[in-house]
Amino acid sequence: MLTVRAPATSANLGSGFDVFGVALGTPADVVRVERAPETTITVTGTGSQYIPEDPDKNTVGAVVDALDAPARIRIDKGVRPSSGLGSSAASAAAAAVALNELYDRGFTRKELVPIAAEGEAIVSGEAHADNVAPSILGGFTVATADGVTQVDASIPLVACLPEAVISTRDARNVVPEYAHMNDVVDTVGNAATLTVGMARNDPDLVGRGMEDEIVTPERSKLIDGYDRVRDAALEAGATGVTVSGAGPGMLAACYRGDRQAIASAMVDAFDAVGVEARAYQTTVG
Ligand code: HSE
Repeated sequence: MLTVRAPATSANLGSGFDVFGVALGTPADVVRVERAPETTITVTGTGSQYIPEDPDKNTVGAVVDALDAPARIRIDKGVRPSSGLGSSAASAAAAAVALNELYDRGFTRKELVPIAAEGEAIVSGEAHADNVAPSILGGFTVATADGVTQVDASIPLVACLPEAVISTRDARNVVPEYAHMNDVVDTVGNAATLTVGMARNDPDLVGRGMEDEIVTPERSKLIDGYDRVRDAALEAGATGVTVSGAGPGMLAACYRGDRQAIASAMVDAFDAVGVEARAYQTTVG
């Protein structure tokens, strides 16, 4: 039997919609695999009751097919589904790494990214690599149609997860079809700033680069208390705040010593609008 842990991730980071992603140190999914004539999947852990065990409907089933690697698979969810923290991607990433090794398929980690992304199509209708890439490769990743670029960044983060659910499909339905050139120019500038910030491990540049005038304003309307939580995090020292992935999770970049205060401020601000939340203090890793 083989066991692989794959971390939660945050995609988009505001300005890098469908392109940027970071691995979070915690939480994580753990996937155990052993060879079997037919694939079976069992799911335990947080939110497991919402995850289908039918291999045709589970993200991991697509990975099994892509690697032609039937197995008895046990998924222990640490990443809550529909959280914006890359839950389905964590399972798909762990399964891709585990099954590749179990069947000695010989794919590199980078080659496993599009394979794991096939699982994402089951959840969102499209095979995004912006969550599976950092879950497999770690650090900060830039996933485009031409491949993935990875940087071993180390930026302190707070990921705050409210007790609310937004499906990726619903969150994609509010993404505008067109954008004004001014907003595109600003967002490209912010994405470039964020990338430099990751390369330099500079929380100020990363935070500034998280600003996005195209997708985030629409998606933030789906999150009760978004503006209040964002303001509270910024006041507590966050260098930037945005929606994590498709939401409802929110992500703040910061300096290491400010994480505790930002985590408390975000949880309290959600609480003020009647929403229970928990915060993970972590680092891009
Ligand atoms: N980039 C994707 C989105 C991440 O925000 O919709 C979720 O798969």
